[in-house]
Amino acid sequence: MRAVLSFILLFSFTLSGAGAEPVVIRFSHVVAEQTPKGSGANRFKQLVEEKLAGRVKVEVFPDAKLYNDDEVFIALLNNDVQLAAPSLSKFSILTKALEVYDLPFLFNDLAAVEWFQNSETGRRLLNALDDKGLKGLGYWPNGMRVISANKPLRSPEDLRHLTLRIEPSKVIEAQYQRLGAIPVKLPLADTRDALRRELVEGQENAWSNIYSQGFQTLQTDITETNHSFQGYMLITSKTFWNGLPADLRSELDTILAQVTEEVKTQAAEQADRDRQAILAAGKTRIIVLTDQERANWRQAMMPVWALFAKQIDPALIATAQAANAGNP
Ligand code: LMR
Repeated sequence: MRAVLSFILLFSFTLSGAGAEPVVIRFSHVVAEQTPKGSGANRFKQLVEEKLAGRVKVEVFPDAKLYNDDEVFIALLNNDVQLAAPSLSKFSILTKALEVYDLPFLFNDLAAVEWFQNSETGRRLLNALDDKGLKGLGYWPNGMRVISANKPLRSPEDLRHLTLRIEPSKVIEAQYQRLGAIPVKLPLADTRDALRRELVEGQENAWSNIYSQGFQTLQTDITETNHSFQGYMLITSKTFWNGLPADLRSELDTILAQVTEEVKTQAAEQADRDRQAILAAGKTRIIVLTDQERANWRQAMMPVWALFAKQIDPALIATAQAANAGNP
């Protein structure tokens, strides 16, 4: 009888959740820890472990230690990882709508991107992967893209015949093909080696990725084109997220909202800091374009919009453009 009672007690104790194993959230990403996304992921872990101690455990895997971005979507669906934040340029294999982010010279700056992402349209895009079993939890920025190479690039014509590492985005690929360059899609983790071995002669990225990967040590020049936005969508699998107890989901949402605000502040500061550090090292020239030169880049790249406008949706593009006036 005593044994039966203990069994019943133990059983109800387990069902009540007390003593239950914590939920484990494995967060996989491909950048260094000293970048906006890297610090955001670590900060998320810290806050979760402070506020949800014993209920949720977070494990962060930076630097593509676990998965590259092309593998992480399947890993999420298989529940091998529960959180990721791929660059928006990596989603074009899953949805056309998010290609809007890659259109060159669409957003003037990070403030315009933030307006757009906070707009009803921007928030709706978080559901763009719904039919793929994935859920967008928010956006994290990195920075505006600049182009580095082993020669000065002052005008778009200077790109002719240059091999350039790009993220796997059809828009970015078309943008460089139009300029007579040879875009090569490579994972970030392979880019430093490809530059070192001169398999590619240049690349485009945000300052924090260039600096943390050390690309500036392999490139003579960086042109500050600021031609497109490099940022992330935080994603999870719908099955995992909807399976969490509602109170836990809401706590995690609150923590993510706090981290997102911190990442936004940090991204802007870090872009300046990393740019300065590259300049201070004195090994890489930073080419600051005149208004006329930047207008030339814009004019050369923008025709690529026409190739993608229909599949992205012209109304979506118009809303994004309106964000430049702070009026999405
Ligand atoms: C890249 O591949 O260059 C970026 O998408 C990496 C990142 O996550 O910022």
